Amino acid sequence: MIIVALVSTKGGVGRTTLTANLAAALSDQGRTVYAIEMDPQNSLQWHLGCAPGNVDGLARATIAGAAWRNATRTVGKVTLLPHGALDEVDRLAFEQALYAQPDLLQRHLLALAVPDDAVVLIDTASGPSVYQRQALGAADIALMVMLPDAASFAGMTTMTQQVQAYGRAGAKFFDTAVIVNQIDNARQLAKDVVRVLPGALDDVPLGRIHRDESVAEALACQAFVADYAPNAMATADIALCAQALGARIDAAQFAQDAQA
Ligand SMILES: Nc1ncnc2c1ncn2[C@@H]1O[C@H](COP(=O)(O)OP(=O)(O)OP(=O)(O)O)[C@@H](O)[C@H]1O
Ligand SMILES: [Mg+2]
Repeated sequence: MIIVALVSTKGGVGRTTLTANLAAALSDQGRTVYAIEMDPQNSLQWHLGCAPGNVDGLARATIAGAAWRNATRTVGKVTLLPHGALDEVDRLAFEQALYAQPDLLQRHLLALAVPDDAVVLIDTASGPSVYQRQALGAADIALMVMLPDAASFAGMTTMTQQVQAYGRAGAKFFDTAVIVNQIDNARQLAKDVVRVLPGALDDVPLGRIHRDESVAEALACQAFVADYAPNAMATADIALCAQALGARIDAAQFAQDAQA
């Protein structure tokens, strides 16, 4: 199992959109894909085409002391484990459990007994949070999503600190990657940020995705972007990102097999 955590300092950058659409694209590569939601927003199911507001999910299962397996659902080509809806009292109880047990997510993922060659994508709440900390603690690959603007650029320092603090630095294999999303070529600032990024980041960005109305429209229709607009620029961008991510996943799998 290779675990990829989608993280960002800022909200609204496209983590959930990319979790859903990369999950679909990776499954089209013939991979077994799980999409796990570490975000009380509970919106990943909507991005995967399910009705919103489902109560059951990993949060309620945790509070009930139950295994997460019963909260999984097959949604088309992906196995979804939503956060689920909680009231405020239960949300605080769940967050307390996450604080008290830093390896809670990791243990539950192992207990899910997903196939060895499966890919697990984890959508997270934005910014430094216990959700992000748990996801980074479990991840083989931290996939940082950013916008091509000054705020996202400035936030990369905080993001890198979080990854260094909570990523599995001690593990034999731990990889990081950056995707720049919502690039609008009509905006000079976006073009400037994209141009200076390779020198400013530790890594050359893994992928770039243009700002494309098809992405928002696909969500409104609860469809994957590739199904809603096969010829859209964002569809091609997401496919390239999935290809590049697939190569990183294969490298992680190779490292994991070599250790076994
Ligand atoms: N490449 C894109 N082009 C156009 N719109 C996009 C693109 N990527 C994401 N969006 C839109 O941006 C909005 C935010 O996306 P999303 O909810 O995936 O972000 P997020 O980082 O998960 O946000 P949150 O912090 O609320 O969890 C959505 O309306 C989505 O459709
Ligand atoms: Mg989100």
